[in-house]
Amino acid sequence: MSILKHHAKIETNVLLLMVGILLTVIIGGLVEVLPLFTIQSTIEKVDGIRPYSPLEQEGRDIYVREGCYLCHSQMIRPFRDEVERYGHYSLAAESMYDHPFQWGSKRTGPDLARVGGKYTNDWHVRHLTNPRSVVPESIMPNYAFLHRPLDTSDIVAKMKTLRVVGVPYTEDDIANAKADLVAQASDSANTDALLQRYPKASLGKKDKTSTSVTEMDALIAYLQVLGTMVDFSTMKPDAIR
Ligand code: HEC
Repeated sequence: MSILKHHAKIETNVLLLMVGILLTVIIGGLVEVLPLFTIQSTIEKVDGIRPYSPLEQEGRDIYVREGCYLCHSQMIRPFRDEVERYGHYSLAAESMYDHPFQWGSKRTGPDLARVGGKYTNDWHVRHLTNPRSVVPESIMPNYAFLHRPLDTSDIVAKMKTLRVVGVPYTEDDIANAKADLVAQASDSANTDALLQRYPKASLGKKDKTSTSVTEMDALIAYLQVLGTMVDFSTMKPDAIR
């Protein structure tokens, strides 16, 4: 190999060495990056994953606003201890409509990626109002102020913005945003169309301290859907590899 014969020359000439390094890095970079241009998405499609309902989206925004992510991650890693404690490890598709995603590595409290359905709505209301009323040793702060009314004035703008970054809200979803939001937090509304658009949405009034939709209603609707969209009992092993 002729290049090996000139090895000493390359190693003792800084300029030549730098050119060599640059060439190597460029080739390596291209090999890594170019194949990605030939595929539509690096995320495998998984049945059941849907955009958040308007109420869940508002709840998610409260979750971010209140900094819940500072103590809670939403990413179950593919290790036995994690899977035994929290359930099936998180799939990339499960956070494909999260902007920004809530993965995180800091866990002062438990991971919340599959907390949906783990507790009743009443438990969540009591826990958020005063965590120590249900978990005496808890160090989680009180969020009793979330009993205040939810500001829904910009839900349409939020959904339109999310659509720009790839969340597939339809015209129908957006036109019905306000109605869906109110219906999801009501005990008496007709929710057929809502469930058609957002299967498995957690229905009903959660926060009984007020008749209007509160921030707590939104946050709990969001918590109750976390990790529940994919039905792992019917999942083909191929698709979850
Ligand atoms: C200072 C850190 C901290 C913050 C901030 C925090 N939590 Fe927690 N959270 C904890 C701890 C610790 C626990 C475990 C004890 C308990 O259940 O209260 C917990 C437990 C939970 C649980 C029960 C999880 C389970 O599987 O048992 C939920 C749900 C939850 N938090 C939601 C929230 C939400 C929503 C917010 C934001 C409004 C939030 N937390 C903010 C520390 C925190």
